[in-house]
Amino acid sequence: MKEKNSFLKQTIDINSPNRNIVPITTLIGSDGKLSIGGCSIEELVKKYDSPLYILDELTLRNSCRAYKKALEKHYPGDSLPIYASKANSSIFMSNLVSSEGLGLDAVSEGELLTALKGGVPNENIVFHGNNKSNKEIEFAVKNNIKVIVDNDHDLERLEEISNSFNSDLEIMIRFTPGIECHTHEYIRTGSFDSKFGFGIEYLDILFNKISNTKHLKLKGLHAHIGSQIFELEPHKDLGEIMVNVILVAKKFGHNIQKLNVGGGLGIKYTENDDPPSIDEWVKTISTSVVKACKKHNLNLPTLMCEPGRSIVSTAGITIYKIGSFKEIPGIRTYVSVDGGMSDNPRPITYQSNYSACLVNNPFNTNSKKKYTIAGKHCESGDVLFKEIELANCKTGDLICVFGTGAYNNSMSSNYNRIPRPAAVLVCDGEAEIIQKRESPFDLLKYDVLPDRFIKQN
Ligand code: LLP
Repeated sequence: MKEKNSFLKQTIDINSPNRNIVPITTLIGSDGKLSIGGCSIEELVKKYDSPLYILDELTLRNSCRAYKKALEKHYPGDSLPIYASKANSSIFMSNLVSSEGLGLDAVSEGELLTALKGGVPNENIVFHGNNKSNKEIEFAVKNNIKVIVDNDHDLERLEEISNSFNSDLEIMIRFTPGIECHTHEYIRTGSFDSKFGFGIEYLDILFNKISNTKHLKLKGLHAHIGSQIFELEPHKDLGEIMVNVILVAKKFGHNIQKLNVGGGLGIKYTENDDPPSIDEWVKTISTSVVKACKKHNLNLPTLMCEPGRSIVSTAGITIYKIGSFKEIPGIRTYVSVDGGMSDNPRPITYQSNYSACLVNNPFNTNSKKKYTIAGKHCESGDVLFKEIELANCKTGDLICVFGTGAYNNSMSSNYNRIPRPAAVLVCDGEAEIIQKRESPFDLLKYDVLPDRFIKQN
């Protein structure tokens, strides 16, 4: 029989954190308690309260370095990994990825501002989105941030702007390559049902349109085929398809110098997950681009990729405190925690699975039981774990959920007027706050009671 919580004893892959469930600095001390980044989780909660998001700096840096290193090793041309900031957008994250030499992908004015505030150089930021506002487009162009053109509406406005400035504007276009990916499924289809990007069948018309503009200079192609992908095959195909599109663009006089292959590499949330390493993923794409360029006698373009989840997810954990219990004999025992779908909407949205343990009894050393871990929101579906084996637990115990660095904080809400948790960064035994805890009073800041209602009362 498998040892309980054996994921805590697995050899850690420090070069590819996405292949571990836990941050690379995870330790269980001689007192049997959990620590990350040299900090006792119990002490962190005493100081910062719960629920608490924690990010491990070393795991983050190792993930960034793995992308840089792999591109240098496997791709003979220029390259730039770009962090997809939707995974976890903050001034801190922008600063960290930039300090590691990564660029950043933003999809709104908010993400753009956050990146700039975090010190990401303008020229290393790309701006995505299927419905950019005029204000956002103008902001990006004025700040010399590259816009990835998603549709004709984008194109028309960029043409107007470049004409009004009477100066050339470099653009990249996003297209749907016709590769459909699901987590454990890979199918090719003739249909390209996505709200993002130009259909591949439209590219001739598009390239011709761009040729007829005065100032738009098409320099790059972008495609992103999905997220939490474990197969390598789709990205191998993507490399080839993108190089073929360079050839099509060439026929219309466009000299493509940049290929942005998107993100999508999966991470290990549970012991059933077995994602490829960052090195393998980069090698697959690099090899396919190099091979296709050689075949067609093309110069190597600058290779860009846009990892989000595989940069930040494994570095992040969330700590909850256990409150109430409800035992339904013969059915289940609900254990309610002090957070839930507002700080992690992934289980209720995607039925996502995670791994977890008790902070002060990670290996479940006393008798174990099956529990259902419920959130505190007024919604029956607010359940973080349908069924999990834990040591006997009681009110006040802490639960650590692993792999929450991506798409938790960034997708959080204030449902039920629950304030967002604080976030701390841990490194070498020091903890620093990177996001202050909201208070219920913060949530009142934007409420307005019209004067006539005040008079009435
Ligand atoms: N580039 C583009 C254009 C994207 O749309 C995305 C993710 C990425 C890069 C980064 O993909 P990643 O490396 O993180 O897989 N909320 C969902 C994930 C949505 C992904 C959206 N696009 C979740 O929680 O699983």
